[in-house]
Amino acid sequence: MSLFDSLIRATLPVTPRPVVHFFARRYVAGATLDDAVATVERLAGEGCCATVDVLGESVTSRALAQTAVAAYLEVLEAIVARSLDANVSLKPTQMGLQIDEGFCHDNIATIVERARAHGIFVRIDMEDSPTTDATLRLYRRLAARFPGRCGVVLQSRLRRTLDDAAALAAAGANVRLCKGIYLEPRTVAYEDREIIRDNFVHVLRTLMAGGSYVGIATHDEWLVAEALAVIRQLGLPRERYEFQMLLGVDPQLRRIIAGAGHRLRVYVPFGSHWYPYSVRRLRENPSIARAGLEAFLRGRVEA
Ligand code: FDA
Repeated sequence: MSLFDSLIRATLPVTPRPVVHFFARRYVAGATLDDAVATVERLAGEGCCATVDVLGESVTSRALAQTAVAAYLEVLEAIVARSLDANVSLKPTQMGLQIDEGFCHDNIATIVERARAHGIFVRIDMEDSPTTDATLRLYRRLAARFPGRCGVVLQSRLRRTLDDAAALAAAGANVRLCKGIYLEPRTVAYEDREIIRDNFVHVLRTLMAGGSYVGIATHDEWLVAEALAVIRQLGLPRERYEFQMLLGVDPQLRRIIAGAGHRLRVYVPFGSHWYPYSVRRLRENPSIARAGLEAFLRGRVEA
């Protein structure tokens, strides 16, 4: 990592919000649902589908959790009204997991029930490791009540994930697999980049061979190539998997994968609670701040 990158990472906590917003705006569709809809429609023109995320997390009041539920119901209505090729992704702590697990379950169930009525799928994002057990419990309860209408996420960074993958595959779960973005202690997570990558491949193979539909969520081209090799070895049809990428990250790779005929879903976050998400993205890749500066000087940023 360059000195500039280290400096960005170290100063993020004290960086003024407008500056964070400037560098991170490529990762967020905008503040409003209209912004998200416009982004999903633009991505459809590239041959990509989307998953829409209403930004927000770590909610500590019931009223705020219910506001988030209402926002998701609006997103579902917009998907139907505009015939968008999109589903939704949500975070358990945005739905009130830190208040009460039952309350959180009921909030997500409200969304999944409405989504089911419209034939729309709901993905439950995975947050940091203290929430993993509760998130998997929520997923199992909801999947039992709404079979095939919701899915969950596994993180190859976590030491437990290979076991979780075997159990989820046996239950026929729909799983997004990613490396995991949260900073975790060594006791629960691998720290070495190569181990995280290798584990991604082992987990992917476990899920695919076990019958799960897998969302392969990565911008790591080595992993994309490994995933394609696993898919070929197992002889999987294109209906059994999709690739997933974040808005604002490597649009060229996105077009290459979609252009080769694989389903490619872009994670499209929007809303006013953009700060924690943006900080995670910039911490993950501080060099984007340099790229943002260069794009600013050239007068454009590609999302
Ligand atoms: P890696 O970090 O090695 O990146 C590979 C390459 O991608 C880099 O070399 C760089 O070029 C580019 N890149 C990666 N991140 C970038 C960034 N922020 N800006 C610019 N370029 C970047 N995590 C989680 O814990 N829970 C979740 O529910 C989800 N959900 C999710 C959905 C989707 C659709 C995606 C794509 C990712 C997630 N993640 C997530 C995040 C995931 O865990 C991981 O942090 C990122 O995808 C980065 O990991 P990569 O596999 O891309 O590899």
